[in-house]
Amino acid sequence: MNATLVTGGAGYIGSVTVEALVARGETVVVLDNLITGHREAVDRAIPFYEGATGDRELVRKIVAEHGVDSCVHFAALSSVAESVADPERYLSNNAVQGMALFEELVRGGVRHVVLSSTAAVYGEPESNPIAEDAPRKPVNPYGMTKVVLEQALEALDRSGQITFAALRYFNAAGATGTRGEDHRRESHLIPIVLAAAAGRRDGMTIYGTDYPTPDGTAVRDYIHVSDLADAHVKALDHLRKGGESLHINLGTGTGFSVRQVVDTVESVVGNSANAVLGERRPGDPPVLIADPGKGSEILGWTPTQSDLESIVRDAWSWHKARPLGYGS
Ligand SMILES: NC(=O)c1ccc[n+]([C@@H]2O[C@H](COP(=O)([O-])OP(=O)(O)OC[C@H]3O[C@@H](n4cnc5c(N)ncnc54)[C@H](O)[C@@H]3O)[C@@H](O)[C@H]2O)c1
Repeated sequence: MNATLVTGGAGYIGSVTVEALVARGETVVVLDNLITGHREAVDRAIPFYEGATGDRELVRKIVAEHGVDSCVHFAALSSVAESVADPERYLSNNAVQGMALFEELVRGGVRHVVLSSTAAVYGEPESNPIAEDAPRKPVNPYGMTKVVLEQALEALDRSGQITFAALRYFNAAGATGTRGEDHRRESHLIPIVLAAAAGRRDGMTIYGTDYPTPDGTAVRDYIHVSDLADAHVKALDHLRKGGESLHINLGTGTGFSVRQVVDTVESVVGNSANAVLGERRPGDPPVLIADPGKGSEILGWTPTQSDLESIVRDAWSWHKARPLGYGS
């Protein structure tokens, strides 16, 4: 049977997707340079290569030796703030290395690519919910690198060399029983509020309280990592069955405000997160909510675990079991 190469499979969303693929009997091989990922996040029984997506020789060898026919490409740096401070690093790691990967995949005869894209490709959208045909107008280098990768896949598709699914995640959150979020420099809201409520950090800041939203704080669309993993499995199935290339939003269509997230975490943990109110951050849109209709219609994908309470409960279970993440 042909194998699926998962780049970034030692990261948060990648490791959960690897589990989901293996659980349905797929042959998986992981490539990850561990710049933000964890070796412990990948079962030892799964072939694992520690290396970069830009290492052409290594990619060539993996594709040939494992008979890779599909790739799910998670590997990327993904902090918006870091990408603004150090754009070259993002261009090099995400865009340049991503291109090298695509070139070697095509040369090796890989037919299908599923790309981790992001709502950041839309920048500051004019309206919500956002459908996939909204213009791509990224407002930071991170989002720009994802647009470049989407466009590269579109060109390869037009030349008939591959088909692809660009999955644009909104806010990934939650955990499974064995895999969760362990970013060394955490920038995501739910793990930050959980750590604050658990007393592992000194409070947290709510950035912006005067947005045009019901409670004045920014509204985002949170999607459970298990639902994300399921969408990748369905996208691969779609491409393998000869389905056309597509761009799909992965969100629920429902938004929650930062204040609602803080309240939910405090009620699940039973402690205050010591939230302090701060100024808006530049480039943070007031509201980002997906129109998830296309994923449901074409892939038959419907989130089943993405209500805020379940997301927070699962993330809290992971946090309690692994207070130091994979390091504990
Ligand atoms: N977490 C979110 O809310 C979110 C939202 C939208 C999109 N995404 C995208 O999803 C993907 C996964 O995100 P995550 O939250 O799991 O991040 P993560 O940092 O946990 O995982 C990324 C993985 O890729 C690896 N990696 C990075 N660059 C590499 C390279 N050049 N070669 C080999 N390995 C490399 C890292 O070591 C890590 O294991 C990323 O592409 C990210 O841009 C994430």
